[in-house]
Amino acid sequence: MNSKRPADILGKTLKLPCGAVIKNRFCKSATSETLGDRQTAPTRELIRLYGRWAQGGAGLCVTGNVMIDAGALGEPGNVAVEDERHSEMLKSWARYGTRDETHLWMQLNHPGKQSPKFLSAEPVAPSAIGFRSELKPFFNPPRGLTETEIHNLIERFARTAGIARSCGFTGVQIHGAHGYLVSQFLSPLHNQREDQWGGSLENRMRFVTEIYRAIRQTVGHDFPVGIKLNSSDFMKGGFSEEESVRVATVLADLGIDLVEISGGTYERPAMAGIAEMQAQNNSEPYFLSYANRIRARIDTPIVITGGFRTAGAMAEALLENNIQMVGLARPMILDPDLPEKILSGQEYISPVHPIKSGIGFLDRAALLEVTWYEQQLRYLGQGKSPRPNQGIWYSLAKTLVENGRQVFQKRRA
Ligand SMILES: Cc1cc2nc3c(=O)[nH]c(=O)nc-3n(C[C@H](O)[C@H](O)[C@H](O)COP(=O)(O)O)c2cc1C
Repeated sequence: MNSKRPADILGKTLKLPCGAVIKNRFCKSATSETLGDRQTAPTRELIRLYGRWAQGGAGLCVTGNVMIDAGALGEPGNVAVEDERHSEMLKSWARYGTRDETHLWMQLNHPGKQSPKFLSAEPVAPSAIGFRSELKPFFNPPRGLTETEIHNLIERFARTAGIARSCGFTGVQIHGAHGYLVSQFLSPLHNQREDQWGGSLENRMRFVTEIYRAIRQTVGHDFPVGIKLNSSDFMKGGFSEEESVRVATVLADLGIDLVEISGGTYERPAMAGIAEMQAQNNSEPYFLSYANRIRARIDTPIVITGGFRTAGAMAEALLENNIQMVGLARPMILDPDLPEKILSGQEYISPVHPIKSGIGFLDRAALLEVTWYEQQLRYLGQGKSPRPNQGIWYSLAKTLVENGRQVFQKRRA
């Protein structure tokens, strides 16, 4: 390990291809807060939460997934932006979230078939292929999208990006990971179309490249556009590392500003450490070997997200692996001041610890963990401190009282 202090390494500014400058190397990764109201508008809690993160010193905060279609939600409580109707609250969100020159990027998403039964009677997907796994009872079988609908969705991504810009967000991120619609298009398991949107990798990536082009045309060349991309789906016959490297290379050639690397889907939640940890023996961070492969192919700035818990490992990834930013979700929920603390020279170890119930199915799907973290997000949004010692069953009971039985059907991320 180099003798430079983590604070020196992580405190450097980063210039993106579009010219925007991020004040340090901490990226608060997307964390679906489920703090939207019944009309899918941001609430005061959500706005306060992002003010809190800006105050804690992160260079870049990516919002939890914002849906581009209010008729297709991934969870109750999602924010959806499809026209100007939430503009005033969005402006307020952007104002709080960009304090102290923090970048605030809106994560743009469509769940595709990962929209639970109680939210979507008939979800859409690239092909009419339902889940085969233990997820089957929670999701209705999807129908395949028509070409006209595909074009309409591409326009929606661009429209939402334009609204984000006009409301004061300083960038957008396409959610291309974790098994949602963009990721479903990329996957040979979920996309079995026989037209120009399916089949070869070139066809499967057309949806995301067209989304990127449409967004760029709408927001211009001086506005950051990034993507969160799976290194792999961790499914036999699914989206592989080789394919992911190829997609990242094409997007880099098109001019994307930042590639955030994650992995997994609801079926294999590697983003929460489940699949990757088994493979890599709990190493920190999760997707480093893939990041090295992609680094060799593109010059675009890279963020890796998942598993960072110590200042030393964060600095090392930047220095030794030529990664440009570290992505942090759970550590930033439990300690919004993490960036400030590391930048002040503290030797930092995150208090994040496994949230397990001991019940195999619930733990494999990271189901209770998500519920537990959502409550911590709620505390922050209410101006309270996180409660890292809160029990998992207390957390479940509280959520059940607040949300009813829907909690069992919620998944992420
Ligand atoms: C409560 C919660 C909500 C999340 N919501 C999203 C989301 O909306 N979009 C996304 O891309 N990832 C989401 N994630 C995944 C995180 O961004 C991140 O990839 C994952 O937690 C691994 O990073 P960590 O080890 O730093 O937590 C979520 C994770 C948690 C714990």
